[in-house]
Amino acid sequence: MGRFDDQTVLVTGGAGGQGSSHVRAFHAEGANVVIAGIDADRGAALADELGTRARSTPLDVTDESSWSAAVRAAEDAFGSLHVLVNNAGVQNPPALIESTDPATWSRILDVNLTGTFLGIRAAVPALRRAAGGAIVNIASTMALGGTAQYAPYVASKWAVRGLTRTAALELGRDDIRVNTIHPGVIATPFIHEPAAGATTAIADVYSPEPFAIPRLGEPTDVTGLLLFLSSSEASFVTGSEYVVDGGLLLGPALQRETA
Ligand SMILES: NC(=O)c1ccc[n+]([C@@H]2O[C@H](COP(=O)([O-])OP(=O)(O)OC[C@H]3O[C@@H](n4cnc5c(N)ncnc54)[C@H](O)[C@@H]3O)[C@@H](O)[C@H]2O)c1
Repeated sequence: MGRFDDQTVLVTGGAGGQGSSHVRAFHAEGANVVIAGIDADRGAALADELGTRARSTPLDVTDESSWSAAVRAAEDAFGSLHVLVNNAGVQNPPALIESTDPATWSRILDVNLTGTFLGIRAAVPALRRAAGGAIVNIASTMALGGTAQYAPYVASKWAVRGLTRTAALELGRDDIRVNTIHPGVIATPFIHEPAAGATTAIADVYSPEPFAIPRLGEPTDVTGLLLFLSSSEASFVTGSEYVVDGGLLLGPALQRETA
């Protein structure tokens, strides 16, 4: 018996680095999964691979009508929707604020913040029809401090925290819980491929050596926490924020002498 038997979970950016890990794990725990995103080919390939209880649906999180269609697709395929994971996200090419193009600012805010807002807005009626559920928003450790050259990304993820807390207050009486996860540096295309308009990837300039746990995170490190927060095991947890970063935020670890 799985933790998500008879439940339907929609993951945005579900074919991506972390998203595909989440989709696989929910599916393995018995969920019907809806892989929603702009990468239709990879979404369809993952749905085919998983077979039964998996669907892929096109979704641009910045587009309200696209959201309505994705939620409808989930309900049409599986009868109801119980969990929404707002995972889709984009980073800006590194630049000081004074050199940041306003169009870049708007694009990052549109996907990371407005996309999450539109997702909550579209999914809530369906979650109510299902008599309750969970929403998990993926923010970042960058939402807990400042990071030079990442103002649009940092601001968008800080704002997701306020949105999460407000949604938790508004939806608790409907038995809908809303929480945030802050991943640290996770080994996905997000850090291995340069952002649009950039030449350098985060992994080229960022070393996990000073972390308490001196490695990059794996998508599965985030998935374990996500499944807990989405499940009935977390039934009294809402409006909360969970960091999964190998100790990145603690500051540099004591370096040991090597023999
Ligand atoms: N990898 C990291 O180090 C890291 C750290 C902290 C937070 N995050 C966050 O984790 C989440 C997942 O990122 P990832 O590491 O899997 O990166 P990724 O680049 O592999 O995945 C991002 C996914 O979002 C999708 N996407 C982008 N724009 C979209 C749009 N308009 N509509 C729908 N889908 C869209 C992409 O197609 C992709 O599938 C993001 O929100 C990211 O900001 C990542």
